[in-house]
Amino acid sequence: MYEEIIRPLLSEKRFRHSVNVSKSAGQLAIKYGADVEKAKVAGMLHDIMKEKTPEEYEKLVQDFGVKLDEFQISAKKLLHAVIGSKYVEKVLGINDSDILNAVRYHTTGRSGMSKLEKIIFIADCISEDRDYKGVDEMRKLADKSLDEAMLAGLKDSIEILTESEKPIHTDIFNAYNEFAFKLKSKKNKNTKDILNRICEILDKKKAINVNVACIKDISAFTDYFIFASGTSTTHVKALADEVKFKLKEEGIFPRKKDEYSESWILLDYGDIIVHIFTEETRKLYNIEELWNK
Ligand SMILES: [Fe+2]
Ligand SMILES: [Fe+2]
Repeated sequence: MYEEIIRPLLSEKRFRHSVNVSKSAGQLAIKYGADVEKAKVAGMLHDIMKEKTPEEYEKLVQDFGVKLDEFQISAKKLLHAVIGSKYVEKVLGINDSDILNAVRYHTTGRSGMSKLEKIIFIADCISEDRDYKGVDEMRKLADKSLDEAMLAGLKDSIEILTESEKPIHTDIFNAYNEFAFKLKSKKNKNTKDILNRICEILDKKKAINVNVACIKDISAFTDYFIFASGTSTTHVKALADEVKFKLKEEGIFPRKKDEYSESWILLDYGDIIVHIFTEETRKLYNIEELWNK
């Protein structure tokens, strides 16, 4: 039904985009337990006012009695979302506030976004017709976590706007900060859990002298080192294999390929790097001492 409403209002390209966003929004709604019908409708309608002329926007602002802020006055990209939401409410007669807000905030996001609002923002970034550099990464994030995809999408928006020295709407910053704080505390908790898990795996496999160094205040590339020794190169390899195997079972994968020598294996889990050595190599390089200083 809404497909037929937007068709005469949009170019073929924008129409196809809207249909694709509706489809992606429906899929995300299924995945994350949101209302699928609402997601499809909001996705279909999100750009309904995207292709108006400045004169038409001016008239619509007056007709709908919209009070624009200084950002919206200067940026058409923002205006289509504000006017779009009003059009959906006043012309199409949709009163569902979640749908209206999903259309309203699909370009900027805002603090306290609902699940549907996040879904429309993200569906707009990952719909089938999108082919910008990094879209595959965004699709993977969207499949993993709505909040992580939101943070990445907002970060992209901020980067694009700062590169061209355009003003950035406060809603974008508010949304960005909220997701950044939320994910940081979650990440800290997750890191601690993984840290404990790795130590447990190493202990069970009889690693010698398992030691953790917190280096987040002095290192820009990781937060923790775990040091452990094996009794032989065979034991070193067995320990590394066990950590990788057990973590893989729990869906945790190294960030890159292991750095590997017979007597020193390094596993890189991003915020945690695990060093497993023979006792001789551990003593010889003594990197523990360096980082513990
Ligand atoms: Fe849009
Ligand atoms: Fe869009």
